Amino acid sequence: MKILVVGGAGYIGAHVVKALLNAGISVRVYDDLSSGQKINLFKQTEFIENTILNEKALEEALTDVDGVIHLAAKKAVGESMINPEKYALNNITGTLNLLNAMAKKNVKNIVFSSSAAVYGTPQYAKVDENHPLNPINFYGFTKLEIERFLDWYDRLKGIKFIALRYFNAVGYDESGAVQGLEKNPQNLLPIIMETIVGIRKKMLIYGTDYATPDGTCIRDYIHVSDLATAHVLALTYLSKEHKSQVLNLGTENGHSVLEMVKRAEALIKPFPYETSSRRAGDPAQLTAVANKARELLGWIPTHSELDNIILSTWALYQKHFSQN
Ligand SMILES: NC(=O)c1ccc[n+]([C@@H]2O[C@H](COP(=O)([O-])OP(=O)(O)OC[C@H]3O[C@@H](n4cnc5c(N)ncnc54)[C@H](O)[C@@H]3O)[C@@H](O)[C@H]2O)c1
Repeated sequence: MKILVVGGAGYIGAHVVKALLNAGISVRVYDDLSSGQKINLFKQTEFIENTILNEKALEEALTDVDGVIHLAAKKAVGESMINPEKYALNNITGTLNLLNAMAKKNVKNIVFSSSAAVYGTPQYAKVDENHPLNPINFYGFTKLEIERFLDWYDRLKGIKFIALRYFNAVGYDESGAVQGLEKNPQNLLPIIMETIVGIRKKMLIYGTDYATPDGTCIRDYIHVSDLATAHVLALTYLSKEHKSQVLNLGTENGHSVLEMVKRAEALIKPFPYETSSRRAGDPAQLTAVANKARELLGWIPTHSELDNIILSTWALYQKHFSQN
């Protein structure tokens, strides 16, 4: 089996490629390296440097391919509200190019990187796939629209899909096989790491008066290696069941911001942080119900324990910053 991994030089993509190779699956990576990195490419894979805005190049890349994993996207929520054109073009037009190229080349299976951002402000703390879909940022809107296009391309073109709605992706491969640090990270754990290594003077905790046990926001942190495994299982499901699905990927357990900070201090070292007022648009708690992925794919997260997500991230930061 050969799989085209679009966005395979990125943070999650590199972990997905590693999992595919470990499962004995051949991989062709397609990436424009806009945020991905050459250091994330594995020597066993073919690599095509091109953009999903180039439909002809996509068609060529799909030659002799059995399925697609599509991770290529712009993903900065704040930027998507300021520059929606960039997100419409890259995420939506780019994905339509890919689907059209798949239809032409008769490639019938796709696993798509969706996001919990499709839900918007949670109406209840533990979010299942039936939760109302009401994105509050343009990034989340692009993911939801793509899910809708996937549904139509399934009905009209017979392309079967699994849309994986990731919660908060964290951590790095524990064996050190993925070497690139995520570029311009916006998430809590990389910000903690950047504060520890001195790139940031201090970190801010936004809001300490939420209705949570310690007053700070709770999120569902899922290790990228667990996400990666789900993609391999999703491909197996598609090839056996030929049925489209939308699945949450999360641990179902939340950690608060303060809990993450305190545990990182205990495991690594103390670092400067301050509390600040709430940020607009941050819900108190966002955690997944993920029993559908467990039941349909047989997916069980095994890397997402709190200490492991912190220490596997720290290991790569240490490697990068002790060399410089
Ligand atoms: N990181 C998270 O917590 C998270 C959560 C939910 C969903 N996602 C989704 O998962 C996917 C992967 O995210 P990531 O965190 O690895 O981000 P990333 O930026 O590291 O990876 C995206 C990859 O896509 C490539 N790419 C972007 N635009 C492209 C284009 N036009 N043509 C070809 N390649 C292009 C980039 O170079 C990069 O290698 C994205 O679709 C993202 O929206 C991520």
